Amino acid sequence: MKLSVIGCGYLGAVHASAMVELGHDVVGIDVDADKIAQLAQGRPPFFEPGLSEILTSATATGRLRFSTDIADAAGAQVHFIGVGTPQKAGSHAADLTYVDAAITGLLPYLAEGDLVVGKSTVPVGTASRLADLITESGSGASLVWNPEFLREGFAVQDTISPDRLVYGVAPGEAGERSVALLNEVYASAIAAETPLVVTDYATAELVKVAANAFLATKISFINAMAEIAEVTGADVTQLADAIGFDARIGRRFLNAGVGFGGGCLPKDIRAFTARAEELGRGESVAFLKEVDQINLRRRSHVVDLATTALGDRLHDGKVAVLGLSFKPHSDDVRDSPALDVAVQLHGLGADVLANDPKSIENAQAKHPQLRYSDVIADTLQDADLVVLVTEWPEFVEIDPVWAATLVKTRIIIDGRNALDAAAWRAAGWSYTGMGRS
Ligand code: UDX
Repeated sequence: MKLSVIGCGYLGAVHASAMVELGHDVVGIDVDADKIAQLAQGRPPFFEPGLSEILTSATATGRLRFSTDIADAAGAQVHFIGVGTPQKAGSHAADLTYVDAAITGLLPYLAEGDLVVGKSTVPVGTASRLADLITESGSGASLVWNPEFLREGFAVQDTISPDRLVYGVAPGEAGERSVALLNEVYASAIAAETPLVVTDYATAELVKVAANAFLATKISFINAMAEIAEVTGADVTQLADAIGFDARIGRRFLNAGVGFGGGCLPKDIRAFTARAEELGRGESVAFLKEVDQINLRRRSHVVDLATTALGDRLHDGKVAVLGLSFKPHSDDVRDSPALDVAVQLHGLGADVLANDPKSIENAQAKHPQLRYSDVIADTLQDADLVVLVTEWPEFVEIDPVWAATLVKTRIIIDGRNALDAAAWRAAGWSYTGMGRS
């Protein structure tokens, strides 16, 4: 089948390449000429495990093309919308400029029977407004809202073998035709056991924000417990293990630490709150403001621990910051707690040297004032304090005995509870984790 993917950022670039893997011919479209040029040469504009391989083979066979001209979507039968919905400047609401531009740009090229598939995360109510625009255009095309649940670091796998599919469709026969067509597109991605939820537009939109709100709440819940553990001498990791044995709770996403970041969870909970307020139901999700606050407090907590540890050396002490990306196996520094901690410590006068296996370029573009190194030994050399804020395997595997020979002072703050506290203490380090003594 011929497909177009409009928006070749994180979601779109992965989706376009993955759809070729599923057997389709795809054109990827984006307004960013540099990004399109890179993608056309088979080079991903960001790091994502496995993407380079599928992008290279898809472009080499000629079954994946890229263009900056939306007119090149003409002739495709299914059009995916994967543009960004960033936080609006000066507000918590989502900025729908790119979604609206993608739809209005696409309208003249839609043909009878075409399917537009919305994948971007949007405020509830957007899909029915867009469906009306498509109907009014008289093109005979229809709309499905098909939220994307991919995780960075596992994006290719999550797209090719999704753990569930959600289709928000128009009522009646038009909706049934959309379901059949989208099932055809995803045929080789759908296993017998893949759950499929077919629903209305509003539910499909809400599923996505509700899922992210739940995950964010789970993380902030355990971080709130870490705050209590910190003043009582309890151990939040053991607490998480113990409550996680209850299958109704589950252990996943109960890792206390410096909190969540990235391009999705923080902005999505804020946009959800803003949308609920617009709908007169602000109180229903007022707790998400608390979730956000708890999350941001974790960053301040790590900075406070660092300033206490440095004491008089705060203004010229060397701090080795291990990690910049919002999570391991990603070069994404959007709303990254790790980068935020590095910037805050630098702002307080510390001499910060930050290390990350993949994100230095992205961090440097945002914060040229920091010093960076991609060599762990150089980063640790003569440090007065070491702060681990992203649990990359290469940091978790650092030998504390070896590290002790490099630093000036053996103090480490483990902002991700990723290290073996006993081993670090045995090597003479003062070790502080998150919510554990
Ligand atoms: C998230 C959702 O998981 C995904 O389904 C959605 O499509 C997009 O948003 P992603 O942003 O890739 O995916 O990251 P995720 O793995 O969810 O991690 C988000 C943040 O939470 C990271 O900063 C991570 O370090 C943090 N986190 C995660 C914790 O602090 N503790 C945990 O237990 C789990």
